[in-house]
Amino acid sequence: MAVLVAVSGWDPNPWADGVRAHLSNHDVRLWPQTAGDLSDIEYLLAWKPPSDLLPRLTNLKVIFSLGAGVDHLVGDPALPDVPIVRVVDPDLTGRMVEWVVFQVLLHHRQHLAYAAQQRARQWKDLEQPAASEVRVGILGLGVLGQAAATALAALGFKVAGWARTRKSIPGIETYDGPEQLDTFLARTDILVNLLPLTPDTRHLIDYKLVSKLAQNGALGGPVFINAGRGGSQVEADLVRALDDGTLKAASLDVFEVEPLSPDSPLWTMENVVITPHSAADSDPTALAAAIARQILAFERGEALTNLVDRTAGY
Ligand code: NDP
Ligand code: OXD
Repeated sequence: MAVLVAVSGWDPNPWADGVRAHLSNHDVRLWPQTAGDLSDIEYLLAWKPPSDLLPRLTNLKVIFSLGAGVDHLVGDPALPDVPIVRVVDPDLTGRMVEWVVFQVLLHHRQHLAYAAQQRARQWKDLEQPAASEVRVGILGLGVLGQAAATALAALGFKVAGWARTRKSIPGIETYDGPEQLDTFLARTDILVNLLPLTPDTRHLIDYKLVSKLAQNGALGGPVFINAGRGGSQVEADLVRALDDGTLKAASLDVFEVEPLSPDSPLWTMENVVITPHSAADSDPTALAAAIARQILAFERGEALTNLVDRTAGY
C-alpha cells in the first residue's frame, strides 16, 4: 500500500513525514524522487501535481487535495475517476477567518488613510462609522464563507452571503443563485470573495459586477476583498474600478496568474493591499494526521468525508 506526495511550489517532506507518522503499514513516497513503480500508488496527496502524473497512477483509489480548493485538480482532463477529498479543518478555517476579519477591519478602520497620514506625520482623526452601519457581503457560504460571516457578525457588521443553493444561517442574510446576485450586491459595502473557481465563477467579478455594489455606504465607497481564487476576478477591470473610484479599495490574496507579475499596476496602487496567496496556508503539522486517519478509515470500509462533488466542480 503506497502513498505518493506530489506537490508543486511546496516542500513535500513535512507532508510525507506527517502521514508516515500515522501510517506504519504504508510506504510513503515523494514525487519524483522516491516515486518508484507508479502502479503501487493507491493514495495521492496532491497540490498542483504535474498533469502527466495522473494518468500513470493506474491503481489509484483516492486523491487528497492538500488545499481546500480543488481547481488545481478538477480542471485536469487527465483526472482519474476516483474520489477526491479536500481539506476541511479548523486550523485552515481559523487562518482564513483571521485574514478576512483583518482585511475587513483594515478598511473599516481606515488603516490605509492612517498609514498615509503617518508617513506625512499628520495627526488627524477621521470620521469612523460603527460596524453596525457597514454591510459586508460574502460570495460563497461554504465552510470558509460561513465561518467568516459568523465572525464578522459577532463584531457587529451587517453580514449577508450568497451561495448556489439556499442557506439559513442565524444572524446572516442569505441570497442564492444568479437571480439574487444583484440584490445582494446592491446592499453590500464590503464584498468578500470566498467562492471556489469553477466555470460558473471564472471572471465573475468584473467591472460590471463591482459597479453594482452600494455607492451610498458608510465607508464612502465599496471595497473588494478576494481570498477565493484570482481566476474569479478580471484584474484589468479591478484596476479600472480602483482607479476611477468605482471601488474605494481592495485587498487581494489571489490573482489570475500567480505569482503576480512585477509589472502589474496593482502593486503600486495606494488603495490596494496585496498578500501572496497566504490567507490560509495548509499547515502539514495540523492537516497530515487527518489525511492519514481518513486513509485508515477508508481501509476499514468507512465512508470518506469532505468529498468533492466533481460535477459541481468544488
Ligand atoms: P466550500 O465548497 O465549502 O464552499 C463554496 C461555496 O461557494 C458554497 O457556499 C457554494 O454554494 C458557493 N458556490 C460555488 N459555486 C457557486 C456559484 N456558481 N454561485 C454561487 N455560489 C457558489 O469551499 P470553502 O469555503 O472550503 O473554500 C472556498 C474557496 O476558498 C476554495 O475553493 C478556495 O478556492 C479558496 N481558498 C483560498 C485560500 C487562500 O489561502 N487564499 C485557502 C483556502 C481556500 P453552495 O453552498 O450552494 O454549494
Ligand atoms: C487552498 C489554498 O485551496 O491554499 O487551500 O488556496
